[in-house]
Amino acid sequence: MEKNKKQPGSDRDAGTICWRSPSNIALVKYWGKRKGQIPANPSISITLNSSVTRTCLKYARSLPGRGALKRFSFGGAENAGFAQRVGKYLDSVGDLYPFLGDYDLEITSSNSFPHSSGIASSASAMSALALCLTSMERNVSGSPSEDESFYRKASYAARMGSGSASRSVYPGYVLWGRLPAVTWSADEFAVPLNDNIHDDLREMGDAILLVDESPKKVSSSRGHALMEDNPWSRVRYEQAGSNSVRLIDVLAAGDIDEFIRITEQEALTLHSLMMNSGGGYILMKPGTLEIIERVRRFREETGVPAAFTLDAGPNVHLIYPVSFRESVIGFIKEELLQFCPGGKWIDDASGKGPLQADDETSK
Ligand code: DP6
Repeated sequence: MEKNKKQPGSDRDAGTICWRSPSNIALVKYWGKRKGQIPANPSISITLNSSVTRTCLKYARSLPGRGALKRFSFGGAENAGFAQRVGKYLDSVGDLYPFLGDYDLEITSSNSFPHSSGIASSASAMSALALCLTSMERNVSGSPSEDESFYRKASYAARMGSGSASRSVYPGYVLWGRLPAVTWSADEFAVPLNDNIHDDLREMGDAILLVDESPKKVSSSRGHALMEDNPWSRVRYEQAGSNSVRLIDVLAAGDIDEFIRITEQEALTLHSLMMNSGGGYILMKPGTLEIIERVRRFREETGVPAAFTLDAGPNVHLIYPVSFRESVIGFIKEELLQFCPGGKWIDDASGKGPLQADDETSK
């Protein structure tokens, strides 16, 4: 993260702010929510490095209360669908950023990864936008002046756009959702967990294996909603709580076997919840199962500690300590890419978190 300490002054009337913010991969999954974007259970993720959204926000003072979103472009082209979603989001955070109505805005955004690649783009996109809005607030009003409040506010606002985005404002391991064992945790914003991480689990690789890039049959929003009538939801929310507490201990102790057990159990639980929701639906593909089997066999045969996890889709994330990079990459090329059309995968890793990059333009 970069310090963002600009004082109000010439930037009060007009300016441009850019942030680059990464996607994240959940180890303990957020699946199910209550009104107001309150998660049904705590979740823990790793913030990634190279799967990022770059967003620039240009603002200029208008007449009081007459400001509007004038333009939104994505990947160099104006996009009416996204503009509508962003417009709605800006309305929903009007109370958090009361000055917004006095400014005209232009937003340009782009992803470092293909939009359809199956990477959760809402986490990087909504966190980048929330960081831009919070920087704008600092420029026009001088607050929040403390970095801690700055990132907390950005996380709160990112959550309003997409729950998982709340976690992307911090690097490393991040917890979102109230967990009594972590007194500073909250449902309204995420908190970083990096003070007590064993060296063996600090730097992690994430190989994203693109098994299928077609649009999902059931969106995440629909999936969250279906949890309300899922017969197992209460048990699941308790399980996520205990897995979160356990994972925090495991991260501190460097217990890689437990790390793998929890990560894989969470991924399979997420997909079993889908199979039990409504009429039941399956987002995994045959290639997803082939990869899961091979990952487990590879681990058994070589002892290399690589764990699979899944988002709400068919693509597999292979998480491993970077010290095992060479053997993991060899294994991916030899055994896994045959299940990824065109041999496509993304070589990502845990990263340093979002970066303010005002000198950079977003195409
Ligand atoms: C399976 O954050 O995309 O990736 O809050 O409706 O935008 P909304 O949902 P979203 O859900 C992510 C679900 C998940 C698990 C996770 O990231 O924790």
